[in-house]
Amino acid sequence: MKLPLSNRLSACCDYVQSGDRVADVGCDHGYLGIYLLSHGIARSVIASDINEMPLESARQNASKFGVADKMSFHLCGGVRHLPHNFDVLVLAGMGADTILSILSDAPWLRDKKYRLVLQCQSKRSDLRRYLHQHGYAIRRETLAQDGKFLYPVMEVVYDPTQIMTEADYYVSPALRKSGSPLLPEFLDHVIGGMRKSVNGLAITGNEGYEKRLAVLEQIQKWRMEL
Ligand SMILES: C[S@@+](CC[C@H](N)C(=O)[O-])C[C@H]1O[C@@H](n2cnc3c(N)ncnc32)[C@H](O)[C@@H]1O
Repeated sequence: MKLPLSNRLSACCDYVQSGDRVADVGCDHGYLGIYLLSHGIARSVIASDINEMPLESARQNASKFGVADKMSFHLCGGVRHLPHNFDVLVLAGMGADTILSILSDAPWLRDKKYRLVLQCQSKRSDLRRYLHQHGYAIRRETLAQDGKFLYPVMEVVYDPTQIMTEADYYVSPALRKSGSPLLPEFLDHVIGGMRKSVNGLAITGNEGYEKRLAVLEQIQKWRMEL
């Protein structure tokens, strides 16, 4: 029986180290935790979901794959009611608003003893801006492809010394350094979206135009340098 792990979730697993205790919030089917346990990577997994049905499916899958004894299951939103005894928090497959609300609710995560693995489905620049403004640093970031979609996946630690610019919120320094073969395609995608937004701001005479144009020019420069 093979676990149907997407490239996106596999990239999240790559940031988990041997012996880590993992909390997978919004676990749904539970595949991430099951993979980490059945491959002897994680020591234990806290699996949680805000909805009963996905959590039940995680429970059943964990039994099917013989790892239920190393997983605990929690029906709750975010991390507020979870035990704090983990090393890595994974938030994957959720939009920026959900991830931001989970992080805002848990200032205790701003501690060097935790690592966060974040895979955000929307408004990723908002997430990177929030992380930077709250003392988090993106230590590593890469890209995964499933079908025609590209997914940035990041490893985040608490380090208030990291400096980021507005353009970095769209393509982080860690992602630019990642050497991912998907980076040119990803930058083209970001540039395409940014051009539409700049054109829209130009038409409406919005005061944010100059700032957005400068970001676009910076990202185009990075693209040329690849
Ligand atoms: C699209 S699924 C992603 C599942 C899995 N993490 C993945 O990346 O494949 C999102 C899951 O997060 C759960 N969820 C949404 N908001 C949540 C919250 N605030 N706390 C915990 N779970 C949440 C949903 O019920 C759903 O099962």
